[in-house]
Amino acid sequence: METLSVDENASNEKIKDAIKAQETPEFYSDAQKYWDNIPATNDGMLGGFAHISKLDVGGSDTFLKLIFKMKNPPGHSRAVDCGAGIGRITKHLLSRHFGKVDIVEQCQNFVDQAKEALKGHKKVGEFYCQGLQDFNPPSDTYDVVWSQWVLGHLTDSHLEDFFRRMGAALKPNGVIVVKENVSSSGEVELDEEDSSVTRPEKLLLQIMDQAGLRVLKNTKQNKMPNGLYEVRMICLRPKSADSSNGTTV
Ligand SMILES: C[S@@+](CC[C@H](N)C(=O)[O-])C[C@H]1O[C@@H](n2cnc3c(N)ncnc32)[C@H](O)[C@@H]1O
Repeated sequence: METLSVDENASNEKIKDAIKAQETPEFYSDAQKYWDNIPATNDGMLGGFAHISKLDVGGSDTFLKLIFKMKNPPGHSRAVDCGAGIGRITKHLLSRHFGKVDIVEQCQNFVDQAKEALKGHKKVGEFYCQGLQDFNPPSDTYDVVWSQWVLGHLTDSHLEDFFRRMGAALKPNGVIVVKENVSSSGEVELDEEDSSVTRPEKLLLQIMDQAGLRVLKNTKQNKMPNGLYEVRMICLRPKSADSSNGTTV
């Protein structure tokens, strides 16, 4: 599955398949079918690797704390967890740092489970059951937009549009955080099982740049078990924010 597949060098055939697959309407419907049949558990979210959840959240917590120490840091009022699954990251990470956390997730079953798991949690805001390709929050809404282990489900052009919309939805000094697998083959790799792609870091950075985002921090998640994809944590801000408030980081 997308999250934690073994990283093998991609063959030319696989790369061509990855590019073609993203251009078909089934790219989204196949992903939906896949996730509709996955149990609403941490193991389901992490492809059988629930035991790495603590390590993952610890790495993210350290990264987020570094972000808050930057010059012109984001505020702590509102974040959104994109492709949130059952709310694992909201529960263990984002709700500890933000006054309110919204959830966006395409699979109704996972949204229901997240609502149950977070019932009575004062920090939890809105639940949006929709694809990130359609998510379009108002401007000046979020201090942090967090997307993790989901962006391989968007086509390159939808990903660029998503980044643009999220950039426009940030509050002053807001940032977008991306935590994703990257391929080591230097090529896009297709996972036919869950209908996602794993991009090389270079392509991910290129799409971010095309979307008008500037990288403020880019760090590797340490201590991931051997044989899994490298995981990068990348903090971004619209380039336009520099000129509008005269800041650099
Ligand atoms: C690997 S799980 C990760 C869940 C969560 N981010 C975490 O780390 O615990 C991927 C999640 O992305 C969701 N997803 C897949 N395609 C999506 C899309 N186009 N828009 C929003 N969510 C999507 C799946 O339903 C699933 O919950």
